[in-house]
Amino acid sequence: MIAASGTFGYGTEYAGLMDAAALGGICTKGLTLRPRPGNTGVRIWETPSGLLNSIGLENPGIPAFIEGELPRLRKLGPAVIANLAGSDLAEYAEGAALLDSSSIDMIELNISCPNVRAGGMAFGLDRSAASEVTGAVRKAAPRKPLIVKLSPNAGDVAAVALACVEAGADALSLVNTFRAMAIDTGRRRPVFDNVSAGLSGPAIRPIALRMVWDLWEALRGSPGIPIIGTGGIASARDALEFLMAGAAAIQVGSATFAHPPAMNEIIAGIAGYMKNRRIKTAAGIGIRAWGAAGQISFI
Ligand SMILES: Cc1cc2nc3c(=O)[nH]c(=O)nc-3n(C[C@H](O)[C@H](O)[C@H](O)COP(=O)(O)O)c2cc1C
Repeated sequence: MIAASGTFGYGTEYAGLMDAAALGGICTKGLTLRPRPGNTGVRIWETPSGLLNSIGLENPGIPAFIEGELPRLRKLGPAVIANLAGSDLAEYAEGAALLDSSSIDMIELNISCPNVRAGGMAFGLDRSAASEVTGAVRKAAPRKPLIVKLSPNAGDVAAVALACVEAGADALSLVNTFRAMAIDTGRRRPVFDNVSAGLSGPAIRPIALRMVWDLWEALRGSPGIPIIGTGGIASARDALEFLMAGAAAIQVGSATFAHPPAMNEIIAGIAGYMKNRRIKTAAGIGIRAWGAAGQISFI
């Protein structure tokens, strides 16, 4: 069980509201080389069974994260997964090199960021851009396991995924948010300054689940690449669906906003399910030790 990027701060914000030590990992908010202020205007908007966000990449920058947040985050216990963002290959690579020499446990490469040198199209929408950024980060951070976080907005998610694996990804996580929007009918204008925003929460779950299922199929030729399933998971049953679709581990994001102990309850629910069915290997389902788990065997 991993706390999804951007929904769990730097881990310490939830102290007293849930047991963070029970998690397998915590993904940080997207980190860039230099500090960023994030987006202006409305940043969060509720939709039926979902959440639109336009936070942008508000973060203190990688050097300040390593100095200030990382020591506190380390003390919580779970694996520290640095979500790496950037606007061009050089920025990604420089950030990756700094993370490589820090005490983080692994990198989750966020390829949903706009590529400023390609007219702002997100890296993750195009297999060659995704492959290039994965290769650059792999080279700059040879010591850390590399998860690539896929965008569901790509036309052919599996093709992008395979290109990332070829370029050196050790694992794949999916999905990031879906590009969506809302209009404020009172003001007669889009809610968000950037017009579009990212949709998350239960509304996206069946689509995210189908994408995990399809990716597992596409990866049959690369069985050592664990899939981390994400998207609207709010209960143990939801999590089990992703594990059965082929995920070796799961991430939970928006559900934590609505109900901070959600991840603890999901872990307990999965344990109960396993006990009832005499399933012995938690590692085989991947709830804690995703790296060692590989793919589950009953598909
Ligand atoms: C407020 C908010 C901020 C997010 N920030 C990031 C981010 O910085 N980097 C990233 O890779 N994903 C980010 N995400 C996407 C989540 O990590 C996750 O992939 C997505 O929300 C789907 O999971 P969920 O439905 O459980 O929330 C963010 C999501 C939300 C709701």
